[in-house]
Amino acid sequence: MRIYFLLLLLLPSLCWSNPPVWSRTGHRVVGEVAQEHLSRKARKAVARLLGGETLAEVSNFADDIKSDTTYRGYSPWHYVNFPLDKAYTEVDPSPYGDVVTGIRKCTEVLKDPDASRDQQVFYLKMLVHLVGDMHQPLHVGRAEDRGGNDIQLQYFDRGTNLHRLWDSNLIDDYGMSYTELAQSLPRWSKAQIKAAQQGDVLDWVEEIQEVTRGVYGSVNTGEKIYYAYRYTWWDTLEEQLLLGGVRLAAVLNEIYG
Ligand code: ADE
Ligand code: ZN
Ligand code: ZN
Repeated sequence: MRIYFLLLLLLPSLCWSNPPVWSRTGHRVVGEVAQEHLSRKARKAVARLLGGETLAEVSNFADDIKSDTTYRGYSPWHYVNFPLDKAYTEVDPSPYGDVVTGIRKCTEVLKDPDASRDQQVFYLKMLVHLVGDMHQPLHVGRAEDRGGNDIQLQYFDRGTNLHRLWDSNLIDDYGMSYTELAQSLPRWSKAQIKAAQQGDVLDWVEEIQEVTRGVYGSVNTGEKIYYAYRYTWWDTLEEQLLLGGVRLAAVLNEIYG
């Protein structure tokens, strides 16, 4: 009897699951990589606005405010869903905004000399997060399965879905802190970094779609996956974190001259 009572007490915590967001560690890695690639001017501007906090430290702000209804309107900014065989410009944009329009809005405010300090701080924190989110392949996803959220899977015999697998399971099970993970990423040459920073947000979306197609093709609904999946896809995941980081730096370096 006692054991059932105990189980009953434990039930809420057993059922508790985090909302599907690109791992907090993943966002911090993107922030950390970006911080290392800032120009002097950008580093100063960022430090002035964040008052000593680093890009890694503010990288989860946009998820932290999600439960505050005041900020409901920003929820669709974390991703963009449209057919993977179409270009972003070929489909009607969502009237609620998406990660592309979100990044554009942040850039616009940060370039506006009349924007208040509070606005600048807010949109800088949003920008750090959104450039990271965009590089989670399933945040450039298909609407019909909500970026893989409706594709159920078993990961190490526990229920998950394709979106959550890429948001958090793969990174979190790896068990590294964000500094360890940032340190362990491959070192890119100057030329590689420059190549990654070429283009604009729409070019990046198009490139990410290619990765997204691969990720959708990587599993069948209901499939049971184990170590081999992470082993196969880890390089891709690391590359997305690096790309997110160096591109965030590129955007900030452009904004702050
Ligand atoms: N909700 C609906 N589509 C989504 C996506 N692609 N990423 C995150 N959350 C979503
Ligand atoms: Zn997500
Ligand atoms: Zn997010």
